[in-house]
Amino acid sequence: MQTRSLGTQGLTVSAIGYGAMGTVIAFGPSDDTESIAAIRRAHELGVTHFDTAELYGWGEGEKLLGHALAPIRDEVTIATKFGFTETFGADSRPEHIREVVDNSLRHLNTDTIDLLYQHQPDPNVPIEDVVGAMKEFVDAGKVKYLGLSNADEDTIRRAHAVHPISALQNEYSIFDLGAEPLFPVLEELGIGFVAYSPIARGFLTGAAEPRDQYTPDDFRQRVGWWKPENFDKNVAIVDELTKFAESKGATVSQLALAWLLAKKDYIVPIPGSRKPNRVAENVAAADLTLTAEDLARIAEIAPMGGVGGRWE
Ligand SMILES: NC(=O)c1ccc[n+]([C@@H]2O[C@H](COP(=O)([O-])OP(=O)(O)OC[C@H]3O[C@@H](n4cnc5c(N)ncnc54)[C@H](OP(=O)(O)O)[C@@H]3O)[C@@H](O)[C@H]2O)c1
Repeated sequence: MQTRSLGTQGLTVSAIGYGAMGTVIAFGPSDDTESIAAIRRAHELGVTHFDTAELYGWGEGEKLLGHALAPIRDEVTIATKFGFTETFGADSRPEHIREVVDNSLRHLNTDTIDLLYQHQPDPNVPIEDVVGAMKEFVDAGKVKYLGLSNADEDTIRRAHAVHPISALQNEYSIFDLGAEPLFPVLEELGIGFVAYSPIARGFLTGAAEPRDQYTPDDFRQRVGWWKPENFDKNVAIVDELTKFAESKGATVSQLALAWLLAKKDYIVPIPGSRKPNRVAENVAAADLTLTAEDLARIAEIAPMGGVGGRWE
């Protein structure tokens, strides 16, 4: 697997990472044994970057990932995030950050977090204070690199002025183009981009089902692409993308991931799957190279992304 740099501070990761959210929340019931097998399969196939968060099960996701990676901890980089209250509000108060990051280190069973993100902005805490608290962990040798997630340009600039930011993690896929206006500031400041929900929460795989097929706790119940009036239109887009992918000997999820890799050389997608065979399918996208003409064809098929927003 090729590697990519996130930022200019020295963080190097596999071109495709692994997102561990679904191992505990978001997509209905999961099986820990299968999730651990999926994580280890990713590593066997060359993935060295693994993404989790306090939010994913309030420590349960970090524990599962830490357990899965324990035998290979020194061969991988782990990212985690803080910034939520238990009722899903924002909490990036420095005292909360200190508590959450200490918990994350314990849950991950590690001495060092490779990449620590603020998960979402907190309107009540200036970003300078947030990054100041994150920097304390860098100074103590407990965190190596800093990142922001779901942040806007002003926040990125202010944060980077306090301590170098290595990565921005926002949503980006053929179905959600909303991150593109941020690319100039990332290039100016030398910040890498981690693309979350890179296969549109599973829509860009051909495996999307109408929302009533999912359990009530499945996030996709509330994603606009699955809304009944949008669903068939999005299936039609994926059918066209699938035909195009097949003409290149690839699957549509591979096309979606290769599209991200082709967009910019500082983009690292972090697809999530709890199934080892799907992990293998996704990771193989690193071998698919798309040309400018290919990108133009994809833009023709999905000029505005998916139909319906990310959330209803
Ligand atoms: N920073 C943030 O605010 C934020 C928000 C969302 C996500 N994230 C991160 O980004 C990661 C990925 O995003 P995501 O999980 O939302 O969406 P995603 O990776 O775009 O899609 C995951 C969904 O696609 C399915 N899937 C994966 N590969 C497949 C394949 N080859 N064929 C068919 N189905 C497939 C998975 O199901 P199975 O597991 O059943 O295979 C799961 O339901 C997360 O794990 C998390 O680390 C961050």
